[in-house]
Amino acid sequence: MPSDDIRALYADHLSTLTERADAALARGGFDQLVIPSGTLHYQAFDDRDYPYAVNPNFKHWLPLTNAPGSWLVYTPGQKPRLIFLQPHDYWHVVPSDPSGAWVEHFDITVIRNADDALQHLPDAAARVAVLGEPQSALGHVVPNNPQAVLAYLDFYRAFKTPYEVAMIREATRRGVRAHRAAERAFRAGASEFGIHLAYCQAAGQDAAELPYGNIIGLNEHGAVLHYMDRDRVPPRPSRSMLIDAGASYHGYACDITRTYSSNDDEFQAMIDAVDAAQRGLCDQVRDGTDYRQIHQDAHLAMARILKEFGLITVDAETAVQTGVSSAFFPHGIGHGIGLQVHDVAGFAETDAGGTIDKPDGHPYLRMTRVLAPGMVVTIEPGIYFIDMLLEELKQKGLADSVDWARVDAFRPYGGIRIEDEVLCTDGGPVNITRETWREIA
Ligand code: GLY
Ligand code: MN
Ligand code: MN
Repeated sequence: MPSDDIRALYADHLSTLTERADAALARGGFDQLVIPSGTLHYQAFDDRDYPYAVNPNFKHWLPLTNAPGSWLVYTPGQKPRLIFLQPHDYWHVVPSDPSGAWVEHFDITVIRNADDALQHLPDAAARVAVLGEPQSALGHVVPNNPQAVLAYLDFYRAFKTPYEVAMIREATRRGVRAHRAAERAFRAGASEFGIHLAYCQAAGQDAAELPYGNIIGLNEHGAVLHYMDRDRVPPRPSRSMLIDAGASYHGYACDITRTYSSNDDEFQAMIDAVDAAQRGLCDQVRDGTDYRQIHQDAHLAMARILKEFGLITVDAETAVQTGVSSAFFPHGIGHGIGLQVHDVAGFAETDAGGTIDKPDGHPYLRMTRVLAPGMVVTIEPGIYFIDMLLEELKQKGLADSVDWARVDAFRPYGGIRIEDEVLCTDGGPVNITRETWREIA
């Protein structure tokens, strides 16, 4: 995207954030908003730090994802201030000088020691909402994370500004390029570890920069929902791959899953069936749709595929009612995505708080809100062959609902998941992942 367009989008994004901050501060009875970028965390009994994870509330304002010890101070009516830590340090590369479309919108003070931030932060008498982790406390500036302020900001974070959608698209471009490289590596017979390296290479991102650990499961490993072990040696034969992997851009995430069979076989036919059903579910991402309904409809859609492929002996409706579909599709249909791969406030009832419950029997659904324009959500149905859950069906007296010979035929392939990110608009849904895939292919 041309940099002038990004500048304009960013300026609008920032005005949205300041409006939201004004309202959130008023709700909580505060005069100022202070957001630390976060600190490095050290391993116990060691001098090694964990990979730094920036405070999402901080990176919402500006695309600084690797500047620990910095602070944002916002006072309604004033230009936001950035207290930017650029330490004198010859051991490490320090954060580079601020640059980009955001810089002109901030008053920036550079500090060389983390403690020096204190003299630039509001004094102890000020009424300040400080949003951060406890470890960011500095002198009298202690994160208080007021519920009223966070509830308001988190609720509206679900509604992405056009700038944020552009960032998610850019992250998706990197993710799609990397997914295509991963598929080539799989078809060339690479190991899980080799496919992971091909993915990182094509994304141009190291493992710690990705928004979550790559899930790359060959054969039976596809049945482990969050399989991250990465065998160094390829299985023989290498029948199938489930790859759930994302990429980051300016603090925003993408989250994409594809499943492949190495042959044009029955498993590929089932992948195609899940893919077709997934597209139908993506088409339900529309203003006013209860996300829980998409989850329920996904169960019926997966159960129909189970019936079509002879895995269940009962009809699809019965499989959903008795919980048989949950043994094959044991996770939620998806979640909001943005600054975090699983974005905040998936259950938020209002901008003042409250929770929208998950449907009974669906503990892993991560979002229960009614969709509205600006929301970006994932749609990620799946079918897996998980021995532990199938065993539970037997113990519940539901063994007759399953054709076990068919389970045996599919078990060596692990499972299927297809996942896209979809933008809800005031018109039809925009499938960011598939649009990007077409653009790159
Ligand atoms: N990558 C984790 C998820 O799909 O939610
Ligand atoms: Mn995923
Ligand atoms: Mn996901």
